Amino acid sequence: MPSVDELALRFRQFSGTTSSRAPLYSRLSRSIADDRHLVELLTVAPEQQQLPVLLFAAVHHVLLANPDDELALHYPNFAGTAHDDFAGTAHDHFAGTAHDADPFGAFTRFVAAHADEVRSLVATRSTQTNEVGRCAQFLVPMALLHAERGQLAMLDVGTSAGLNLLLPHFAYGYEPGGDVGGPSTVHLHCSTRGGPPIPVAMPLLAASIGLDREPVDVHDDESVRWLEACVWPDQADRFARLVAAIALAREVGVDVRTGDAITDLAALVHEAATHGHPVVTNSWVLSYFTTEQRVRYVDALDALGREADLSWIIAESPAQTPGLPVPASADEQSTVLTLVRWRHSRRTVQRLATTHPHGFWLHWEGSAVLG
Ligand SMILES: C[S@@+](CC[C@H](N)C(=O)[O-])C[C@H]1O[C@@H](n2cnc3c(N)ncnc32)[C@H](O)[C@@H]1O
Repeated sequence: MPSVDELALRFRQFSGTTSSRAPLYSRLSRSIADDRHLVELLTVAPEQQQLPVLLFAAVHHVLLANPDDELALHYPNFAGTAHDDFAGTAHDHFAGTAHDADPFGAFTRFVAAHADEVRSLVATRSTQTNEVGRCAQFLVPMALLHAERGQLAMLDVGTSAGLNLLLPHFAYGYEPGGDVGGPSTVHLHCSTRGGPPIPVAMPLLAASIGLDREPVDVHDDESVRWLEACVWPDQADRFARLVAAIALAREVGVDVRTGDAITDLAALVHEAATHGHPVVTNSWVLSYFTTEQRVRYVDALDALGREADLSWIIAESPAQTPGLPVPASADEQSTVLTLVRWRHSRRTVQRLATTHPHGFWLHWEGSAVLG
């Protein structure tokens, strides 16, 4: 187990690496590192979870249920959001923003007042994400496949809350490139380079199925709040679109199944194929697998692709996913968008783009198809 001094160092390092993209957490981390009582809160977590982001997610989770607390004045995501729980509360107070004041006093008072709840969350939860911005990456190859194959059926493996199954329900703005879809309560903006083939219309998805070993139930308020709490408050745009996507999922419904990526894959690909050409999607999931699991997963897809035509869209970091058929150097850190096709039992691989991990930009490469 790491010592309290080692944990304090993690906060100090976290502060250093996040100063530009997460100023609030960076500032808080710097002060937490010098506060033994706060650092010690992390010791109740399982060893591999003892990370600053877990403590921050736990505090954020409790704050989302207590939006009138003074601490909310320091959290940028509490401003300008339509979240039912706190619209009209923290939002109104935010007008007199405490944004520039030191947030640490409010943070320590809040944690002291909710210490049991924070400790219990730290002991039992791990961070979770579902990033709808990744649909701006999926949409481009989906449209290529629609042009090639007609009606499609999506199987999103490692789907979390299944929010990316809502791909056809979102409004997209590519810059340059133009708008696709909508109107929608969820707007995804994506800067482009290299002239990706932006679709003129939404591809037809006849079915969208999600698979996850521990899915987040969008109808469960507690689970949803945890998903929201794991978004960094400085990333207010991500937070707002997550809240909007959850509301949309509650309204239109998402078909999410509980199961394992490898053992339950074949049955769901077969089911998807009864609706249209099956397209398996993966975004930031395969980095959670061991290399041996990734090889088994690719073998399972190869077996299915030999049986019947199949497509697979991958958005993962090659450095974190050795064993995938992605043309990339082994240490490439960026998210690479790859399209794998099995046609008449033959597999081809096409590297399409590098992308922002949350879909804010896409640099099109559209390279040659590799056998
Ligand atoms: C970081 S989340 C990504 C969620 C989503 N794909 C996205 O882009 O927002 C990774 C998800 O993969 C799921 N997962 C990890 N290993 C899995 C496995 N073997 N089978 C099914 N789901 C798995 C986790 O439960 C988690 O919900």
